[in-house]
Amino acid sequence: MQYNWLICAALLCLQLLTAAPAAAEEQESLAAQASNLLSYIAADYADAVRDGAVIDQPLYRQQQRNLNRALEMMHGLPDRPGRAALEKSVRDLDGAIAAKRSGEQVRRRANAAADRLAQLYQLQRSPAEMLPAASVAAPLYQKRCAACHGARGEGASGPALTDYRRMASFSLYDLYNILDPGADTVHARRLDADLSSRQRWALAVTVASLAVTGTEPPPVDEARRYPALVGLPGMATARPVELSPDAAAALMWWRGHPQRVRALQHPLARADGLLQLAESAYRAGDNASAYHQMVLALREGYLPQRDALAQRDQPLETQLSARWQALRSAILGDASNAEVIAAFQQLRSGLAQARTRLQPPPASDFRGWVTLLFAVSVVLGLLLWLRRRRR
Ligand code: HEC
Repeated sequence: MQYNWLICAALLCLQLLTAAPAAAEEQESLAAQASNLLSYIAADYADAVRDGAVIDQPLYRQQQRNLNRALEMMHGLPDRPGRAALEKSVRDLDGAIAAKRSGEQVRRRANAAADRLAQLYQLQRSPAEMLPAASVAAPLYQKRCAACHGARGEGASGPALTDYRRMASFSLYDLYNILDPGADTVHARRLDADLSSRQRWALAVTVASLAVTGTEPPPVDEARRYPALVGLPGMATARPVELSPDAAAALMWWRGHPQRVRALQHPLARADGLLQLAESAYRAGDNASAYHQMVLALREGYLPQRDALAQRDQPLETQLSARWQALRSAILGDASNAEVIAAFQQLRSGLAQARTRLQPPPASDFRGWVTLLFAVSVVLGLLLWLRRRRR
């Protein structure tokens, strides 16, 4: 009798232990699917409702169904602080769709809910490594996708992928997510189940490039105006449709040509982007990739700038070197979560300071004085000349 009890307990423990990882994976896939459905609503709604009236009844009904499915999936996810706010934002979205609000309002709400969901359940919305050129996955695209979407994305039995306006409503992550076998709500599993995460990111870039094939790159200045969009995670998570027209056009081109963009990014901005990725990997419990990203940030972002910084501001350089060291030992050692997060934040704020220190001194003052001096001397010269002539 007693033994039976013990065996039962042991079996239960075993079951719990083996069930835990599968459950975590399932949760991530549920969250990714729900996020995918929400971003679909954001992209499609404007085709279903115009000026407060439904213009495409089947599409409108599909969106309501999609929203309900997303809500059901969310109910399958564990409770977390912030989840009540998420559910409220989805209910608000439901209300907005029922009231046939404008396309823009529904799009904003749906995208905001998708982003909140991704944050709350710590979905990795940015690739672990640099994005490859569009040409890398071009052969894979021809083999797997062209039959339905056309060799140049012009569309066949599947929709065109060259529609600029529609593609602008997806982030690169949304495109990646469309190919995630766990989240894909439009393709059969056999289509993408065997693709690695790396291949899916590469395909997302290939797809993103189709809408901007043959177009000119944005002016080089744009990289300075929108530094967050030339690096990760911004390039992967921002949706062009939510940006100003200039920034949207630039992002559309940049994300289709990631290899051409790398040179535009300030190394310290790259370091910051990689540290953000490292931090989110750490928060998701993936210490190995957190460490890997941190080393990349140091090597590709900070070290190329270190000498210049030491010349400009030696104490700041010394302080930053200590902060890199502190973060490294915090991740590798047994520091508490809060300590590691604090080390990330200190390092990132130091790097932001370094960026301002490395900026060239403002030239405008100097140029202003030169122009004034020049004007004064011209006027003086003219006066002298006039006086001479009168004599
Ligand atoms: C068997 C045909 C077929 C194949 C093969 C296929 N797709 Fe699709 N794809 C579709 C259909 C159909 C849709 C639209 C479904 C819907 O809107 O409900 C779609 C939707 C998409 C979308 C979303 C487009 C939008 O405007 O909503 C993307 C992106 C996409 N596919 C990419 C790919 C990529 C990349 C591949 C190759 C790995 C691929 N597809 C292979 C049929 C296919």
